[in-house]
Amino acid sequence: MSASLLRHILPYSRRRRRWPLQYSLLPLAILSLTVANSLDHSNNQFDPFPGDILTPYPEGRHGGTRTTREISSCQHTRWENRTVETFKVLTTPPSGDGKLKFKMHKYADVVARTPLRKRYAVGTITFIEDPYYTLSVLEPSRKGTCHQNSYYTTKATVLDTAANYEHGCRLAANGGYFTVSNGNCLGNIVSDGRLVKSANGVQNANFGIKEDGSIVVGYIPEEELHNQTNPFRQLVTGVIWLVRNGTNYVNESKIMECSDHEDTGPMDTFVNVISARSAIGHDDKGRVVLARVEGQTHVRGANLYEFADVLIKRGVVNAINLDGGGSNTLVQDGILLNYPSDHCDHESQYRCAREVSTVICVHDVQCLEPDCNNHGSCDMGACSCESPWTGDTCGSVNCSLTDCNGHGICMEGKRKYMYF
Ligand SMILES: *[C@@H]1O[C@H](CO)[C@@H](O)[C@H](O)[C@H]1NC(C)=O
Ligand SMILES: *[C@@H]1O[C@H](CO)[C@@H](O)[C@H](O)[C@H]1NC(C)=O
Ligand SMILES: *[C@@H]1O[C@H](CO)[C@@H](O)[C@H](O)[C@H]1NC(C)=O
Ligand SMILES: *[C@@H]1O[C@H](CO)[C@@H](O)[C@H](O)[C@H]1NC(C)=O
Ligand SMILES: *[C@@H]1O[C@H](CO)[C@@H](O)[C@H](O)[C@H]1NC(C)=O
Repeated sequence: MSASLLRHILPYSRRRRRWPLQYSLLPLAILSLTVANSLDHSNNQFDPFPGDILTPYPEGRHGGTRTTREISSCQHTRWENRTVETFKVLTTPPSGDGKLKFKMHKYADVVARTPLRKRYAVGTITFIEDPYYTLSVLEPSRKGTCHQNSYYTTKATVLDTAANYEHGCRLAANGGYFTVSNGNCLGNIVSDGRLVKSANGVQNANFGIKEDGSIVVGYIPEEELHNQTNPFRQLVTGVIWLVRNGTNYVNESKIMECSDHEDTGPMDTFVNVISARSAIGHDDKGRVVLARVEGQTHVRGANLYEFADVLIKRGVVNAINLDGGGSNTLVQDGILLNYPSDHCDHESQYRCAREVSTVICVHDVQCLEPDCNNHGSCDMGACSCESPWTGDTCGSVNCSLTDCNGHGICMEGKRKYMYF
């Protein structure tokens, strides 16, 4: 019997002596306590040692089997044929000192209650300004670790990935899913304008920012990933679209992302179990929202319906669920802010942050091409280019500034080079 259960029962047995009438209420109290306890699953037999693994699909599989065309034809008609929601954010470099502006709030919401107990979802929700200039999706540890089709890929702690990013992360959180056995990065990944990996049309909920400043949330067809007119600058894939246009979208997206029509067991458990959770989304001011619930699978935390409601209550308009369970990690300026649920490898009485896949890195204002194509330097979101290089990213040459030393022809335009 857990300590909390005793705490609830003892005051009743004491009162019984004073008010015999309450004898009759005791069985009722015990019944509600049992309900409260099963609601919490506060039972150590579920404590997953050593890792708190929370997966939406049966072993060896990942992703929905529907195409975006099927999704658009079987979703509610109020969405017409859209499988994504888009929201425009500013694409002019923010004024100010170039420092990251964000607000992090702690919250504790009652998400379930019985006559005698309340269950809380406890966590943080962070609102980030100027996401076009301050948010990057990173591969684990360093560039090139989730190559398309590579079998063995690298996992790294959020702390390590953030520390390795050459432009620095102020906040860093776990991102997309990965294969637990070999660390394979899953889903679509675009990092600072570089297409890292495509999910090959497998449908799960995505969050991305495009070159024209649109935040895109939802189900993205494969060909859109290769759109050169308006490419993605950042893109990460989760599982389950939590909030769509300010409404709880878990029930609908659960159907969209099921791996097949028969075996919905793992997905149902994944959605309904209480656990540590994390999400990325945006509000109606175009701020990116990073949210999490502290927890441990079956023991504490929130299910996805509750998590979506926590977000909606705080003005989130669209959000997707990212990796949770023992992967749930939040780091600020190199310091771990949350309480992970995985036991440490070497000292199992402690809890340690897990090595994960992609990372959401939030940094000071950064240029579109952070290194200005190596032809200039970035200052508060704008490149100042070395002559004769020019353009927003120092990617083109101004031919009136060079005669190529009389040894070649100058070629103008995007990413053109001088021939000597
Ligand atoms: C979606 O609907 C609009 C108008 O209802 C139509 O013009 C468009 O072609 C449709 N797109 C697809 C992909 O079916
Ligand atoms: C590429 O993006 C542009 C601009 O957003 C859009 O008009 C066009 O339809 C897209 N092309 C494809 C193939 O999706
Ligand atoms: C999206 O939300 C806005 C504001 O709540 C509402 O006016 C609009 O009808 C919604 N759109 C859909 C398709 O539900
Ligand atoms: C999801 O579906 C279940 C079962 O149909 C229903 O009881 C519940 O209210 C729905 N939740 C939301 C948030 O729509
Ligand atoms: C190229 O340089 C010339 C001379 O400094 C300047 O007048 C012109 O505006 C520049 N063009 C571009 C596209 O920067």
